Amino acid sequence: MFDRIDHIGVAVEEIEPVLELYRDRFELRVAHREIVREQGVEAVLLDVGENHVELLAPLAPDTPVGRYLAKNGPGLHHVAYQVGDIDATLDALRQAGLQLIDERPRTGIRGSRVAFLHPRSTAGVLTEIVEPARVAASAAHAGGAQGAAGTGAAGEAA
Ligand code: CO
Repeated sequence: MFDRIDHIGVAVEEIEPVLELYRDRFELRVAHREIVREQGVEAVLLDVGENHVELLAPLAPDTPVGRYLAKNGPGLHHVAYQVGDIDATLDALRQAGLQLIDERPRTGIRGSRVAFLHPRSTAGVLTEIVEPARVAASAAHAGGAQGAAGTGAAGEAA
């Protein structure tokens, strides 16, 4: 069902100090940076081989990651698995009785489609499934990524 781990999500209060750790000390390449207004976060994706670390900073306290930080403090937030067909995967998980946070996929960073499963159904681990944007779409997307970072995700295609 899951092809591989796509990324590990890390909740941070502020991007820059943690970016210094991952980029400068751990020497991971920044692959993408984006403000996703509909999710209330700024996200930075760093490459680790073909996988990623995703740093997530809340845009305001009253957002999902803001509330998470207030309750738990910074640290590991979620694990994301890559799938080939997110609609079929979500249907199968629903039919298996898992509790979904997202009944339907929504737009994630880099034009991906994502959905979260409730940690009550996943042994306490907030779990995300990710269907990446198609190669052609993501190549086109990469050209506009820098501009999109400042203006939010309104133009992100599903
Ligand atoms: Co994620």
